[in-house]
Amino acid sequence: MSEHAPLLRAENVVVEYGTRRHPKRVLHEVSLDIGAGECVGLVGESGSGKSTLGKAVLGLVPVASGRIEFDGRDITHLPRRERRALASDIQVVFQDPYGSLNPLMTVGDILAEPLLASSAGATPASARSAVAEILERVGLPAAAADRFPREFSGGQRQRIAIARAVVRKPRLIICDEPVSALDLTTQATVLNLLIDLQRDTGVSYLFVSHDLGVVRRICHRVAVLYRGDLVEVGDGEQVTRDPQHPYSRRLLAASPVADPELQRQRRAEWLALR
Ligand SMILES: Nc1ncnc2c1ncn2[C@@H]1O[C@H](COP(=O)(O)OP(=O)(O)OP(=O)(O)O)[C@@H](O)[C@H]1O
Ligand SMILES: [Mg+2]
Repeated sequence: MSEHAPLLRAENVVVEYGTRRHPKRVLHEVSLDIGAGECVGLVGESGSGKSTLGKAVLGLVPVASGRIEFDGRDITHLPRRERRALASDIQVVFQDPYGSLNPLMTVGDILAEPLLASSAGATPASARSAVAEILERVGLPAAAADRFPREFSGGQRQRIAIARAVVRKPRLIICDEPVSALDLTTQATVLNLLIDLQRDTGVSYLFVSHDLGVVRRICHRVAVLYRGDLVEVGDGEQVTRDPQHPYSRRLLAASPVADPELQRQRRAEWLALR
């Protein structure tokens, strides 16, 4: 494998929902690379296909045509066993941490499970110390291990979900709207945690969001999806401030910004574009 090959490469990926006789195409030949240690944002309005692309990478939806490579290996259609093994390399954090954390398990068990289930063969003792380490890493007290997800706030639950995603030291994390359900202050601390983790471990992110401000803060590059087509991919700062494609400009004009003057200006731009 070439040293410069991207960690993830999606090539002309097509995903269809519906039935074979009445397929509904939701991704049209989408191509996107993510380098090692890179954060690539994926923005677009609701229904544009952002989560679907994440799911295709995770093997949760079938790819009708095209190809997905991870570290040079074709992972487009993996048998279930191999897909499970890939979970040590590719992980996911969803928007709703409550829905994705088993309410009947303690946080310690939630975090230890991926270690004990993996072929790496963690012992209960080594898993326990790994759990203590990861809790500290995400800024939760060691005592959190003995409590249940419902005992935590939304931001803390998202830290638990992030801890679970990183506990096996993956190389890529699909972050699907990971801060969208959080208030602004909590958003900022969770984003900082993701940024720190990336700096310390070199993990790559596919960062799905409809919020250009969030994406600007964390992403190196940004891709814009419009009704299943990637219409623009470029430098994060440039795409979120001065996008080239008319659809990206509309998205920017519609995105909320904290500065009221800028907001007025954006709204005027948005109206002019319609
Ligand atoms: N399981 C499914 N079966 C049929 N259609 C689906 C399914 N999941 C998603 N879709 C459709 O595919 C399209 C893309 O959905 P997707 O969830 O990828 O969008 P999204 O960009 O993530 O939107 P949001 O910002 O609302 O999360 C939408 O038209 C959606 O209705
Ligand atoms: Mg989505």
